[in-house]
Amino acid sequence: MSDHLSDKPKRDFVGLADLSATQLWAWLELARDLKAEWLAGGNRPLLKGKSLGMIFQKPSLRTRVSFEMAMEHVGGHALYLSPNEIGLGGRESVADVARVLSRYVDGIMARVFVHEHILGLAQYARVPVINGLSDFNHPCQGLADYFTVWEKLGHLKGVTLAYVGDANNVATSLLFGGGKLGVNVRIGAPAGYGVKPAVLARAQALAAESGGSVYATTDPLEAVSGADVIYTDVWTSMGQEVEKAQRAAIFPPFQVNARLVSAARPDVLVMHCLPAHRGDEITDEVADGPHSVLFDQAENRLHAQKAILVDLLG
Ligand code: CP
Ligand code: NVA
Repeated sequence: MSDHLSDKPKRDFVGLADLSATQLWAWLELARDLKAEWLAGGNRPLLKGKSLGMIFQKPSLRTRVSFEMAMEHVGGHALYLSPNEIGLGGRESVADVARVLSRYVDGIMARVFVHEHILGLAQYARVPVINGLSDFNHPCQGLADYFTVWEKLGHLKGVTLAYVGDANNVATSLLFGGGKLGVNVRIGAPAGYGVKPAVLARAQALAAESGGSVYATTDPLEAVSGADVIYTDVWTSMGQEVEKAQRAAIFPPFQVNARLVSAARPDVLVMHCLPAHRGDEITDEVADGPHSVLFDQAENRLHAQKAILVDLLG
């Protein structure tokens, strides 16, 4: 049962930059423990009777299914609200959607076009709001990705992660999460598609506190040279489809292929948040090759988000 009269302040997950490093590590450790329990066949009903409303203004495979299964594993329920249903900010104001949903569910997860809609939901909802991707960031992805790197390498501090391609929402979350966790994040992006100055400045400030670093270049080979992790994402994100042809002409030198991978460490991990446009930002050879951890990343969305849900809705 929802306790809408609780005076415990609700907490949201809007972005990784808002979390303390302590909180971030607590979620990573909880994700590890919940994954181990799941592998041993013993999920616990930690959110028995709780519900999550999931607003989707854009398509999704991983976010939708991993959140839905995460709630099921812990004895709760998830409600999928499709792009046609709510009309966030159109049929009804963001504030009213937040107020109404807060009367029905114990938490809201939202995937939106405009980041301000996440902020509006968080402001007006009386229940926790989780950002399931906006045009600005994708923090659930970033958390799951650092969980994956930690799981594979055994540490995060001092790891060099090179993101190659469009400095988009996913790149922002990798920069902020890396900044909190002491990771050396390099971004290799074409001129005009690099990290926005405000994002770079914030990431640099976070990295200065954690002992990590941030470096931006327009040279993909320089970005990946000696890296522990190479990360890429689509050249055209959801909502940018009109720019597809223009981007397709600019980004090919940033493709993650065997030649680029050979410039990194011999045991480099290759990551992609998926969905992938194979043959564009990543070749089949690399996506299906020995360095690829793409599907472990996808699985870890489930475990990382279960940790977020258990903490925020529990
Ligand atoms: N990586 C990711 O968020 O995938 P979906 O768009 O399928 O949810
Ligand atoms: N940058 C991509 C990520 C998809 C999960 C997009 O926003 O479309």
